[in-house]
Amino acid sequence: MQRDGIEHEPVLCGPVLSLLDPRPGETVVDATLGHGGHARLMAEAIGPTGRLIGFDVDEQNIERARRRLEHMVPPDRRPSISLLRANFHELNEQLDLLGVAQVDVVLADLGPSTDQLLDTELGLSFSADGPLDMRLDSRLSTTAADLVNAMGENDLADLFYNLSQERFSRRIARRICKVRHEGRIWRTSELVRIICSAVGEPAHSRAGRIHPATRVFLALRMAVNHEVENLQSLLGLLPDRLRSGGRAGIISFHSGEDRLVKQDFLARKASGLYEIRTKKPMTPSREECASNPRSRSAKLRVAARLPAG
Ligand SMILES: C[S@@+](CC[C@H](N)C(=O)[O-])C[C@H]1O[C@@H](n2cnc3c(N)ncnc32)[C@H](O)[C@@H]1O
Repeated sequence: MQRDGIEHEPVLCGPVLSLLDPRPGETVVDATLGHGGHARLMAEAIGPTGRLIGFDVDEQNIERARRRLEHMVPPDRRPSISLLRANFHELNEQLDLLGVAQVDVVLADLGPSTDQLLDTELGLSFSADGPLDMRLDSRLSTTAADLVNAMGENDLADLFYNLSQERFSRRIARRICKVRHEGRIWRTSELVRIICSAVGEPAHSRAGRIHPATRVFLALRMAVNHEVENLQSLLGLLPDRLRSGGRAGIISFHSGEDRLVKQDFLARKASGLYEIRTKKPMTPSREECASNPRSRSAKLRVAARLPAG
């Protein structure tokens, strides 16, 4: 499937705006531009005296965000805008290059956008055949096929278990290593067949149960894109780059990521750096889940930078 016609619907827009509260004249970083849905809302809130800095690793999405911001925010209400093809773990270097010391708001809406998920050439989905690639950033050198075909059995099993708690991790890793003796595993459909035969389940998901390949695909995507490491880096950089009173919001889509954010915010609250603005994570309403099913697992946590002690 081609990505062009597929729109990404931004999630939790109400809570993002009310809790991050971007105000006229402020400097805002959208660390994961995607199609620019959240960026557009924040651009309108900060207005022509504000500054919007957007990051994305995916060139196509940066272009889409650029078009959206140009078409949907009238020139007289548009802030100064810098859109960068960069990973958010480079927050420090990129802000230094722009000569920006501190910012008022940082938002990161993690994971792939809907069009990336459905793009068969990226191979993120187990429900359509495609190359086992999974790189959101085409400059990365290691694909999912590289991991599946080169890692040792124990390392593969650990990867599946540690990143997505796949309970059949050992069985699946053993089957992968057996099958790849006969030839390299290239396609998503081959991997799905291997997983299903390893766990003894049919490839089509049964009502109410997740597809048997869900967790392995999630773990591989996280590993290929260094998702845990990137999030940890960003969390570590935020306190120095947020102005006193500045707000950081992270939207995550699975429990491992949400736990990292929660623990980081709590640790920095304990050391007097943050005030937590979401005692519990914000989740989408029933209406939002119905109109945008992808939003179902979204969780937003927000913290505010306290003045340096
Ligand atoms: C869920 S989408 C964001 C959607 C966006 N909030 C919107 O309203 O359209 C996530 C985006 O972040 C990008 N991305 C993922 N990890 C990234 C990282 N470490 N650094 C920069 N961009 C990243 C993806 O390429 C994707 O375009």
